[in-house]
Amino acid sequence: MASLVKTTAIAAAMRRCPFLSKETLSFALNSRSMSSLAKKCPVMSKLMAKGVVTLPTANEVNEESSHEKATVLTKLEAPTQLEEAKPLPPNYDALLKEKIDTKKQDSTYRTFRVLSRTAEKKPYAMARTTPLDDEDVSVWCSNDYLGMSSHPAVTEAVIGTINRHGVGAGGTRSIAGTSHYHVELEDTLAKLHGKESALAFTSCYVANDTTLQTLGKVLNAEIYSDQGNHASMITGINNSRMPKFVFRHNDLDHLRELLKKGDPTRMKIVAFESVYSMTGTMSPIEEMCDLAHEYGAITFVDEVHAVGLYGYHGAGLAEEEGVAHKIDIISGTLGKAYGLVGGYIASTGTLVDVIRSYGSGLIFTTSIPPSTAAGAVASINVLAQEEGRQLRLTHRAAYNLLREKLLEAGLPVMECPSHIVPVHIGDALKAKLCMEMLLNEHKIYVQAINYPTVPRGSELLRFVATPFHTPAMMDYLVTALDVVWNALNLPRSTQY
Ligand SMILES: Cc1ncc(COP(=O)(O)O)c(C=O)c1O
Repeated sequence: MASLVKTTAIAAAMRRCPFLSKETLSFALNSRSMSSLAKKCPVMSKLMAKGVVTLPTANEVNEESSHEKATVLTKLEAPTQLEEAKPLPPNYDALLKEKIDTKKQDSTYRTFRVLSRTAEKKPYAMARTTPLDDEDVSVWCSNDYLGMSSHPAVTEAVIGTINRHGVGAGGTRSIAGTSHYHVELEDTLAKLHGKESALAFTSCYVANDTTLQTLGKVLNAEIYSDQGNHASMITGINNSRMPKFVFRHNDLDHLRELLKKGDPTRMKIVAFESVYSMTGTMSPIEEMCDLAHEYGAITFVDEVHAVGLYGYHGAGLAEEEGVAHKIDIISGTLGKAYGLVGGYIASTGTLVDVIRSYGSGLIFTTSIPPSTAAGAVASINVLAQEEGRQLRLTHRAAYNLLREKLLEAGLPVMECPSHIVPVHIGDALKAKLCMEMLLNEHKIYVQAINYPTVPRGSELLRFVATPFHTPAMMDYLVTALDVVWNALNLPRSTQY
């Protein structure tokens, strides 16, 4: 028993003591840094004073210190040959293949179209794959709604910042990843939305997930969510593990019914979007906020498909309707109308500080590059001023004209008040075939929208007209659609 105690004590000491060598159970002082450390150690210094342990000579240190030798390596040896990657165990591989087959069978398997959008010839893109090698394709589904990804003020800000600061942020926000561009971006966003504070994330998916997840937990809140909410909000709400109540899309009565049934002692968050990206519907922002506040809830509004596009300064639909002050937390993206990448929230100083301090999606990831932040500030500033207002007007005229032309041709355009022009198909395979025929036979690219982005049976083509889509391009599109619609025997009626 006694020897067991002794052995355990020595083992514990060996785990902690940097001087005790496991192999020889002798004191290891074979480097200069270890020797100088030993002089400061209360145990080692006493042992040295009694002569039990002696310091090695300079020569001994040089000879014995493998640690120090390692640090003077001047060349790395290349491996003789790379190990071949091993396949997954057969049962893992079979299950994964089965998952892919399911997608292929119901026509929801996604193939990424390889098209490089051309900065100097908007809205065209270069196809680099057969059968369209190196041909121009017109793009009708990009969320670079106003062409800001190649606006000279934005590209110059990005390139100038890269030249001065390099391409990467170099760290997380709290460890070397906050530059003055990040600070300026957040100040600009807070001012744009009339809020005390803003916080930038690597994307709005991350902003929505992190904010709803963190806030739900911190407030121990019930969360009320519109049925049509984006996957990023649903994920954030689910990740919070708080009670969730889903109300029918834009249905104020249903929301009221659910709020009434809620726990009156608990805090509440009502989460919805201002413009729904696939169906193009808009929410009654003011009524939603008033109702939420009536029941003591706070509101989280995703303006991803509205920032840059609506409002005098491009701050979104809430600005356009004069109700931005009613929103407690607004989220937006830098990746669509602003033409870059990244996302953000804007709210009170304290709320933003809580997400900054507790949100793992903010704390544990490399921040957006300084160049992206600088480009975003340039883009926000352009769209907040007269040039932005003109672009918004041209954009409006373009999507209204497109909608008119499609309707005139008897195509089933779904009714909605926003800039999105959805055309109903209602069949995953036909939607996919339609997209392929438009691309391969007419050099027109519009992505078919299938499950899970929309419910099964609601498959559609989602058209986006930018200020750069001309009336002649629209006529060409409508003629091509007419041909494809006849070939696939697709429904003409807007009744679906
Ligand atoms: C409504 C909505 N919210 C959030 C996001 C995520 O934005 P981001 O692309 O910046 O991650 C999207 C993206 O498609 C969206 O449509």
